[in-house]
This record gives sequence, C-alpha cells and structure tokens, in this order.
Amino acid sequence: MVSTTTGKIAEFRRLLSRAHSVLVLTGAGISAESGVPTFRGAAGVWRQFRATDLATPSAFARSPSLVWEFYHYPHVALAEAEKRFEKEGKRFNVITQNVDGLHRRAGTQNLIEMHGNLFMVRRTSCEFIEENNGSPICEAFANRRSADENSPEIDEKDLPHCRKCKSLLRPHIVWFGEHIWNDVTEKVEKEIQLCDLFLVVGTSSVVYPAAGYASILAERNIPIAEINIETTPSTSIATYHFHGPAAQLIPQLLSVNIV
Ligand code: OAD
Repeated sequence: MVSTTTGKIAEFRRLLSRAHSVLVLTGAGISAESGVPTFRGAAGVWRQFRATDLATPSAFARSPSLVWEFYHYPHVALAEAEKRFEKEGKRFNVITQNVDGLHRRAGTQNLIEMHGNLFMVRRTSCEFIEENNGSPICEAFANRRSADENSPEIDEKDLPHCRKCKSLLRPHIVWFGEHIWNDVTEKVEKEIQLCDLFLVVGTSSVVYPAAGYASILAERNIPIAEINIETTPSTSIATYHFHGPAAQLIPQLLSVNIV
C-alpha cells in the first residue's frame, strides 16, 4: 500500500527537475515484482491492463514487447528517465547491487553493477570477462534438480570452460569474502562526488559499502529519497521515505509515462 502523500511526490518532482546529477542505488526490491508481480489489488494494474491478463501465452503472442515490458517496468522507468535526463544534458546514473542483469536488459546505459552480473562469466586463469546467456550454462546441468541433495558432484571437466583457453569459468559476481573490483569502486566514488539527488530503491541498506552511501551524501546535505515497502537504516537519514512498491512509485516519482 502506498502511503506517500501527493504533496511529497510533487515536492520531490520539483527537486528532480532542478537536479543535474541524479544517482539511483537499487537493491533486490526493485526486481521483486519483475518475476513475481502482484496479481490482485491496486498494484496488480499496470497501464490499463490487469496483470492476470498480461501473464498469458495469448497476450505474449499478441504483443511480446508489451509482456516483456510489463516484467521490466521499474527498470524500464529508470531507463526512460535516463534518456530524458541525457536529452536535457543532465546526468542520470544507476548503481545496482543486483546480479540479475535486469537494468541492462531494460536499457540503462549509465550503469554500475557493483556485485557483478549473473550473465557474465570470468576465466579463472586470466580474468577475461565475457557475456554468457546459456541456460543451462553447460550440458552437465541439463537434467539436474537443485533440490536433490544426493546428486554427485559434477566433474570439473564437465563444468563451464572457456572455449578458447579451456580454463574453468566462474560467475562474474562478487562473492562473500571478496572485494568489490577497484575500477567499480572508482566509478562509484566519482558518482557519489557528482550526485546532487540520491534515490535508494528496494535495498535493506545493511550490506556495505552500498549501505553507507546515504550517510556520506546526507553529510553533504544532498537530498535523499528512499523507496521501499519497509523502513531501513537509511530511512531516518532520508529526506523522503516513499513507502510502497518500486514498480508503482518509480514511474510516479520520475514522471515516466508507462503506468
Ligand atoms: P535485501 O534482500 O537485503 O533487501 C531487499 C529490500 O527490498 C528490503 O528492504 C525490502 O523491504 C525491499 N523490497 C521488497 N520488495 C519491494 C518492492 N516491491 N518495492 C520496494 N522495495 C521492496 O536486498 P539488498 O539490499 O539488495 O550481495 O541486498 C544487498 C546485498 O546483500 C546483495 O546484493 C547481496 C547480499 O549480500 C552480494 O551477494 C555480494
């Protein structure tokens, strides 16, 4: 349920229209509705369509683009806002903690995937990174069930390997115990420096370093808008807490005409 007042939204939009460098930090909450949308209630209506009417094979046959867009809409709203800002000669950047690749697929260009991307793989020998959309990623996974605890380990030779150098591949993701890559940290620091309006969307704000960005910016008196269905450690320092689902609030706040 969105409890945000219309007055606050109008106030935020005025700030947005004056901003020159918008930075959006996203977390898992922005993707919550992409695969598992709310099917009933107010949040179940997108544009003039009911979710239950869109998530059907016949809707997909009629308009595959519409159905794909439905599953991407908070991400699409950010990508649309980026285009509009760029046309106006302003900066609009997204930093995501998510590895699902949905911002990229929705068309966001100015994107920092700080924890990597599930559809990128890296060679264990030389750190070469490449896109891999294979599903399953290799034959050995074809008939395995994740729930089957007793299935034998897959022999290393049957795991994904680079076709050229033959070295074992790994997901290009920052795992627990690993550090965020230096080039990513540098890009993030630059955006934090330039940012004059910060949006924090669908993140619990407990995992660092991302959890610390709001306080760095609050110290510089940069306005912060949090969008979340719960309160988080960022709520008390945010200028605005917009309480509700990202898919509903982002298009509204950014005045993107896809709802
Ligand atoms: P979390 O799972 O910790 O938090 C998700 C947040 O999204 C919560 O605060 C929810 O209230 C909010 N939320 C859920 N549905 C929402 C919706 N429809 N609209 C708006 N908000 C919604 O996810 P992250 O904060 O992204 O790191 O987690 C950060 C990192 O923790 C991850 O990137 C991962 C993990 O450790 C690595 O794997 C390195």
